[in-house]
Amino acid sequence: MHLQQVVDPNMPTIFVVTPTYTRLTQRADITRFVNTIKHVEKMHWIVIEDSEHPTEAVRELMAESGIPGTQLYTKTPENSEKKDGMERFQYHRGVDQRNLALNKIAAMGDKNAIVYFADDDNTYSLEVFDEMRKTERVSVWPVAFVGGQKYERPIVVDGKVKKWHVSWHPERTYPTDMASFAFHSSLLHTGRVPQFSHEWRQGFLESGFLEQLLDSPEDLEPRGDNCTKILVWHTRTMDVNIKREAKLRAEPFIKV
Ligand SMILES: *[C@@H]1O[C@H](CO)[C@@H](O)[C@H](O)[C@H]1NC(C)=O
Repeated sequence: MHLQQVVDPNMPTIFVVTPTYTRLTQRADITRFVNTIKHVEKMHWIVIEDSEHPTEAVRELMAESGIPGTQLYTKTPENSEKKDGMERFQYHRGVDQRNLALNKIAAMGDKNAIVYFADDDNTYSLEVFDEMRKTERVSVWPVAFVGGQKYERPIVVDGKVKKWHVSWHPERTYPTDMASFAFHSSLLHTGRVPQFSHEWRQGFLESGFLEQLLDSPEDLEPRGDNCTKILVWHTRTMDVNIKREAKLRAEPFIKV
């Protein structure tokens, strides 16, 4: 006998925000990612390509997934030469794409939703989506295989985040990975839509963003048994060696 699944009408929608770009392993990564998120109820998938135009590959993968979603695109500008007296400045991949998604979600106006930045090459337990669905303001949990450690995690004392198990720039206010938090859509409607900035250094994006959402790390809601469970792994797809490919006649009709 099957248990009848009853979707609670008050259950918040999860907006999963996935920046992506064209590469040899993109279809493999997105296929694996879809095989995870297609099990998540009541979600809307926002995919933002780092591109001057939307691609057929992403349109097709999104359509085949059957997941309700929105395909967006914006190209990260090329880095310009650093001028004398200028602060270190770099156009970071993912900044414009996530900002576009935040503005889009804000414009959609759903006041009962959760927003999660989920790259297409990480590994996600389904439990992390159940956990983030409880978010009132901002939830946080550990992420494995980041920062040169087995895992990074907030250290929770009496239900509050007091410290961080992090060795890379632990002085950041929120020294945590993009995949380690989710926030309530109400935080997009308190005035200016929170955004990422190219002026922040690589690795400081998460902290800069969270500083706009919260006053202190103690406002974070620890998930995953008070941040003692790994629910997300920062996995990477290996670089594929195709150096023998040039020796063969190309087969343009086979899609990889
Ligand atoms: C987290 O810690 C708080 C405070 O010690 C405790 O009340 C709560 O039951 C814990 N939650 C879980 C899921 O372990």
